[in-house]
Amino acid sequence: MADARPFHWEYEEPPVEREAFRVEGGRPLRGEVAVSGAKNAALKLLAAATLTGERCRFTNVPEIADIRVLVETLRDLGVVVDHPAPNTYEVAAGDVDWLFVPLEAAAKMRASFILLGPLLARFGRVIISNPGGDRIGRRPVNLHVDAMRALGARIDYRNGYYFAQAPGRLRGGTVTFPGVTVMGTENAILAATLADGHTTITPAAREPEVDDLIAFLRAMGAEVERTAPEVIEVEGRRRLRGAEHRVMADRIEAGTFAIAAAITGGEVTLHGAPVGALGAFLDVLTRVGVDVRTEGETIVVRGAPTGSGAYRATDIRTDPYPGLATDLQSPTAVLLTQASGTSRIHETIFEDRLEWLDDLRRMGARLEIEDAHHATIHGPARLHGAEVAMSDLRAGASLILGALAADGESLIHGTHQVRRGYENIEDKLLSLGARIERLSDR
Ligand code: EPZ
Repeated sequence: MADARPFHWEYEEPPVEREAFRVEGGRPLRGEVAVSGAKNAALKLLAAATLTGERCRFTNVPEIADIRVLVETLRDLGVVVDHPAPNTYEVAAGDVDWLFVPLEAAAKMRASFILLGPLLARFGRVIISNPGGDRIGRRPVNLHVDAMRALGARIDYRNGYYFAQAPGRLRGGTVTFPGVTVMGTENAILAATLADGHTTITPAAREPEVDDLIAFLRAMGAEVERTAPEVIEVEGRRRLRGAEHRVMADRIEAGTFAIAAAITGGEVTLHGAPVGALGAFLDVLTRVGVDVRTEGETIVVRGAPTGSGAYRATDIRTDPYPGLATDLQSPTAVLLTQASGTSRIHETIFEDRLEWLDDLRRMGARLEIEDAHHATIHGPARLHGAEVAMSDLRAGASLILGALAADGESLIHGTHQVRRGYENIEDKLLSLGARIERLSDR
């Protein structure tokens, strides 16, 4: 049966503790922040642990909602997941009772689809919910399904679920994507590690989190290698062993806090930052005129006084790594509201990642959204407090940034969005002198 088009459903999230942030802006942030482990590495690493029945141990795992959702999903499958200490998780997928990833998991977190590759490769079958779309675009998974089929899987689509099976065993093959897909690449790698034979994946995503995953898989005994910038090759093995891994630092969190320092005219030192993975972003800060210095895994950002007009407008374009990360586009847009002149944003990856700018406009930003992929920002603009709501993870963090730079008080609803991917964001901001408090949002 041909795949139906990816569908959206009005899945009603169970009532979460509705919560808002009240932010008193206009205060320079000063101090030091330790960068947490990367959400977009940790989720795939935990999934990769299901490729073996032996225990795997992960450290520097960010304590965020998306990790809790994946852990709950793994436990529902019958996988043993221990949480012996903060930021430490152990996974033992010795036996799995159910090979079923339900709607609830997929609705809460699209990344649950990363379980397709490892479960199919290890157990030969899985029923997994279509994660549908979310706030930043349709987010289909057709390329993931195509990749599994290229490795010999049979996948039918019925009533919102993919019924996947690998008669006998997956077999190595050539996976050719029409364009870069991060999780598509990762699902293909995970499936190929236990397939019979050799697999070549092109174009393979170059995101650093993919290489963090490859490092862990090699520690498990997998034969995976990036043989060219956009080529990953895998020689399948019969079984893999347990291993340990420290999750790489989160480049998106680091970038978000760098912008917080820049737009409040403060001075913030980021420790344990993945400096090598932030090249394109640091280039943008330099072009804008932000005083940013790096040494080893430390980034020091000194912001210009707000309203000083010290920053210069620049055009930005998001691209697959090593280009500017789409996840840093919205935080950078907040910086551009403080830059003198006209800045253009070209969002090439997702089609709904500019809508949130309407909320930034309510804080006083002067901008136009030309279409789903283009926006223009005029600066510098004095921002003022407003009442807004978070629509998704990265836009939510960016509204906090706007509120920190704004004169006066802001009320930001829907903070569960930002809890998905930023560990203890308000504690970290409070430690930098921000005035931010949580309110129950009845
Ligand atoms: C990963 O999403 C990240 N998520 C995203 O971060 C990130 O923005 C994105 O990569 C791009 O860097 C995780 O790693 C959990 P893609 P992913 O497949 O893999 C289209 C965050 O805030 N596409 O690289 O889902 C897709 O619609 C999140 O942390 C298909 O058409 O992104 C998009 O236009 C947001 N069919 C483009 O490819 C498919 O089967 C790139 O998406 C898959 C993707």
